[in-house]
Amino acid sequence: MSLIIRRARVSDAAAITEQFADPAVYAGTLQMPYPNEELWAQRLVGQNPPTAGSSEIVLAAVLDDKPVGLAGLHPVGASVRRRHVMSLGITVSRAHQGQGVGHALMAALLDYADNWAQILRVELTVFHDNQRAIRLYERHGFAPEGRFKAYALRGGEYTDVLAMARLHPKPPQLPATD
Ligand SMILES: CC(C)(COP(=O)(O)OP(=O)(O)OC[C@H]1O[C@@H](n2cnc3c(N)ncnc32)[C@H](O)[C@@H]1OP(=O)(O)O)[C@@H](O)C(=O)NCCC(=O)NCCS
Repeated sequence: MSLIIRRARVSDAAAITEQFADPAVYAGTLQMPYPNEELWAQRLVGQNPPTAGSSEIVLAAVLDDKPVGLAGLHPVGASVRRRHVMSLGITVSRAHQGQGVGHALMAALLDYADNWAQILRVELTVFHDNQRAIRLYERHGFAPEGRFKAYALRGGEYTDVLAMARLHPKPPQLPATD
């Protein structure tokens, strides 16, 4: 499988919308059924070109010219004191789940966070029973920090999520002064 990881493009909106129309994808996230292609295109416009000074990024995993996965880092708010924190979201289309696409996206996103974008804490929420996602996050250094009860409605049930986070394993240091 020759998978390419690159920044998501506005022209990916149709493929992304198709991916998010599948309950095997949207049920694991906080997205709604019946996704809107125009809305996805708008979300991707901010990436192209990136807003000056923003470290927000959405990456696409592309196979045979078609996006099959998406992973992004997003600001957690406007607070200056939380500038070191980004929240993470990731999805892989049903047909490509369980084949390492999630691993490839996470490796690229965390390299960007650790080595280029000055991000020290990455946080996320995940449904408590989403074993594949929890496994993926643990493998990339995320640890559970708590459980939110009845956090979101999923298919008619208010469902708990785990809060997970990863601190930079080796934050860059300034050189010693003479
Ligand atoms: C969660 C998701 C992003 C993971 O991506 P993926 O490409 O399917 O995952 P990978 O193939 O890279 O595998 C990740 C790990 O999960 C493991 N795994 C696969 N299927 C599993 C299952 N049913 N239960 C537990 N672990 C599983 C894999 O073995 C791998 O761990 P390992 O490297 O230790 O062997 C993807 O399945 C997805 O998009 N799911 C629907 C949307 C979603 O839930 N997004 C997350 C929102 S928080």
